[in-house]
Amino acid sequence: MDVKEAVQRRRATRALDQRPLTDDVINELIETMRLSPSCNNNQPWRVVVARDPSSLATVKGSLTKGNSWAQRAAAIFVICARLDDDCKLADHRDYFLFSSGLAVGEMMLRATELGLIAHPIAGYDAMTIKQNLAIPDGYVLITLVNIGYPGTDVSMLSEKQLLSEKERPPRKPVGKNFFNGRWGEPWS
Ligand SMILES: Cc1cc2nc3c(=O)[nH]c(=O)nc-3n(C[C@H](O)[C@H](O)[C@H](O)COP(=O)(O)O)c2cc1C
Repeated sequence: MDVKEAVQRRRATRALDQRPLTDDVINELIETMRLSPSCNNNQPWRVVVARDPSSLATVKGSLTKGNSWAQRAAAIFVICARLDDDCKLADHRDYFLFSSGLAVGEMMLRATELGLIAHPIAGYDAMTIKQNLAIPDGYVLITLVNIGYPGTDVSMLSEKQLLSEKERPPRKPVGKNFFNGRWGEPWS
């Protein structure tokens, strides 16, 4: 699979199979994050890999109702970072979230190439997870990336989520986000 195809195929679908993930697969995803760029090569991401029953149960116990589908994840990457571990430049350019997001994005594409779903979420109780997984104060729990092979059980999904299984949610018109030479001049 080339990068273009991985970008097109990557989807945040929610029907997951509970087939376990091998060490080889987890290590591939970790290695992809390790090679990701970061400001000054600071590598600010810290990742708790929840795959053993105990840590998985802890993380799954903190999901919001709308994220019940993630109960079927075979592994969950708990992505953390803190402000002081990456560049802090003028004009609020604090790079820890940006560098960590890049690493997650690359990992998600590699997961796609491996035939996996890697679905990031923001809906969880961060404090509970941080306490139970011994994540130190000062770290932001940025996202949980739910990982597993695609499945067929859609019983936990809302109507909107069901629709999103079939079709990628629409994107804004290009000119809303992309400008030609000057802010506000829509790219077309
Ligand atoms: C930062 C972030 C937070 C997200 N939070 C959730 C979430 O809590 N629950 C969920 O089901 N999907 C969540 N998503 C997935 C998005 O809904 C999904 O990426 C978006 O609808 C576009 O769909 P696509 O990724 O399949 O193209 C999140 C994605 C990102 C990047």
